[in-house]
Amino acid sequence: MPQTTFSSISQNTVTQWFPEPVKGDNESAFLQAACKHLIITTLSRKFRRMKRTIETVRHNYDEERAGRTWSDFEDYVFMTSSPRDFILWDGKVRLGSFAEVRAFLLRYLSGQISAVVQPGDTIIEIGSGDGRNLAWLKRMFPLLRCIGLDLSPTSVEVSRKMARQFKTEIEFHAADATQSLQHLPRSAVVFSSHALEQMPDIFTNAVDNMLMLADRRGIFLEPVQELCPWGIRGILSRYRAIHMNRLRGLYRYVRQRGVRILEARALMHAVNPLNETCAIIVDVNGSRSAASPEGCRSNCELPVCM
Ligand SMILES: C[S@@+](CC[C@H](N)C(=O)[O-])C[C@H]1O[C@@H](n2cnc3c(N)ncnc32)[C@H](O)[C@@H]1O
Repeated sequence: MPQTTFSSISQNTVTQWFPEPVKGDNESAFLQAACKHLIITTLSRKFRRMKRTIETVRHNYDEERAGRTWSDFEDYVFMTSSPRDFILWDGKVRLGSFAEVRAFLLRYLSGQISAVVQPGDTIIEIGSGDGRNLAWLKRMFPLLRCIGLDLSPTSVEVSRKMARQFKTEIEFHAADATQSLQHLPRSAVVFSSHALEQMPDIFTNAVDNMLMLADRRGIFLEPVQELCPWGIRGILSRYRAIHMNRLRGLYRYVRQRGVRILEARALMHAVNPLNETCAIIVDVNGSRSAASPEGCRSNCELPVCM
């Protein structure tokens, strides 16, 4: 039996991404562990693709979020209490905090929104989860009307509860984003963040709805395989998306819709290094772009690094 030395124990990194600790704390150790994990899970599922339907997704998020609460706003929005783990930062996998990535992504999102909104405008998040993105945006832009919709009634309950607790006036509705959303108001910005990835076979309906509701910008912050860089991480990410039945074809579909794409790129940052957040920014009416109005922004600044 090989002896377990102190140094071999200290090199193991416990991570939420794989059931076993990673033997090391750098990018190559992470990628090796990812490779092993994908091979094992592929073989154990006998090559069957994971089922992902409206019912399974609703059930999973209802179960995951039942009874969830946060007493601290920063923790709710940025996940400050999550332990250090592997993250994607500037295109490299390294150990870091999820809060760093959350702050980066929210800074990007609020920058895109602030470029086109005016006081009194409405913004909508499709698949708003526990409401944390809108909670932050409402603090940043108190004069915007914020609406979130999510498939999971439990998530909507949690979001409403958090909105009351943190005194952020946000409307949350339980709804399937792939069905008719005619009852919602047309809005300056309609965005999604890692929500379309949960509806790989029907996301086109949600995209149509988002473009129908948006007056100025459609913002998709999703893992878009077509935009991810190649290399070992890119190949593993693409394989993972197929294996887990995640989103594919979003960029192609948005292009087919004939709207003006202002930006489409991988953001090189992600909470999960194999699920890189990409941005597709769409100018829906093709012209109107109001200057960022004074009075719409609060003095609130996003934390640069937490
Ligand atoms: C990974 S979570 C992301 C939550 C949130 N956007 C965020 O960034 O924290 C995905 C969310 O999309 C929601 N979702 C999945 N399919 C949906 C659908 N068809 N209509 C509305 N929401 C949906 C899920 O219920 C879940 O809350």
